[in-house]
Amino acid sequence: MAQSSRGIEESLTEAALARLANDTDARFRQIIGALIRHVHAFVREVELTEEEWFEGIKFLTATGQKCDERRQEFILLSDVLGVSMLVDAINHRRQTGATENTVLGPFFVHGAKEIANGDDMAAGWPGEPTHVSGQVVDTAGKPIAGAHLEIWQSDDDGHYDVQLPTFAERQLRAKLRTDGEGRFAFRTIKPSSYPVPVDGPVGLILDRMGRHPMRPAHIHFIVSAPGYETCVTHLFVKGDDYLGSDAVFGVKESLIVDFVRNESEAEAKKLGVKAPFYTASYDFVLQPADAGKQQAVRAASDAVKA
Ligand SMILES: [Fe+2]
Repeated sequence: MAQSSRGIEESLTEAALARLANDTDARFRQIIGALIRHVHAFVREVELTEEEWFEGIKFLTATGQKCDERRQEFILLSDVLGVSMLVDAINHRRQTGATENTVLGPFFVHGAKEIANGDDMAAGWPGEPTHVSGQVVDTAGKPIAGAHLEIWQSDDDGHYDVQLPTFAERQLRAKLRTDGEGRFAFRTIKPSSYPVPVDGPVGLILDRMGRHPMRPAHIHFIVSAPGYETCVTHLFVKGDDYLGSDAVFGVKESLIVDFVRNESEAEAKKLGVKAPFYTASYDFVLQPADAGKQQAVRAASDAVKA
C-alpha cells in the first residue's frame, strides 16, 4: 500500500536505520546510526528546501575541492564550527593538573628540522625577537629529560610557511628535545594574531555568520615523551585583542602567557637576541599515558593520501 508523504516523513529515519546490517562493526553502526538520526532531525527541524539542500551539497563539494597536501578546508570547517574543540575536549579530559590541549589546526606539517636547545627557529625572519623557555615535567613535578617538542608558528604577517607562494622548505617550525633537567629554550619572533584563510568556502560561511576570522597570537606545540600522553596545544600571547573571540574556540585561560618586553642590551646579548626583545616562560605538565588514548598527529597531507 502506498504511504502518504507525511507517513514517509515519519517513517524514513526508522527505515534508513533498519537497513544497517547487524553484522557490521558495532562502533561504526553506532556512529552512522547517530549520524542518520541527527541529519534527519536537522532536516525536519529547519524544513530544508530543495534549493538549500543543493546549496549544502555545493558547499561541501567546494570544501573538498579546496583541499590538497597543504590546505585542509575540512579541518578548518570543523575548527570554526567548534567541532574540533569538542572532539578535543571529549578525548582529553585532563583533571590531573596536566597542561591542557587545544586544536591541532590545519597548518601542522611533518618534517620540521631538529634544532638544539637555545637555537633560533626564525633565523632570517623579520619580527620582534623572542626567547621562549621552560621545563617539561610530569604531574608530580618530576622533570622529563629528552621530551620531544614540535613547535610551529606564523610569521609577523600572520602566514604559515605552507601558505606562502615561496614555500619550499619548513620555516618557523622546529623540533627540540629537553635537556637532562627537562628544560628547553629556543629563539623565535613574537607571533601575531592572524585570520584563518578566508579565500575558500569557510571564509564565505564565516562571512554569512557575521563572524570575524581572527585567531589570537599563539605558538603551537606538540609535547611528547614515552609513557606520557601527548599534549597538543598552543601558548597564547597575553593581552591579544582576540583572546575572547578566537575564530576556532581554541583559547584556554591556562594557556595564556605573558610575553614580557625587555630593553636590556646586556640581557639580550646573554640570550643571543637583539634588544628590545620578549621573553616567555611556560612549564608543560604531561600525565601518564592512558593506553589506547594517544593522539595521532596528522598533517593536511595525511588526509589526501590514498
Ligand atoms: Fe596557528
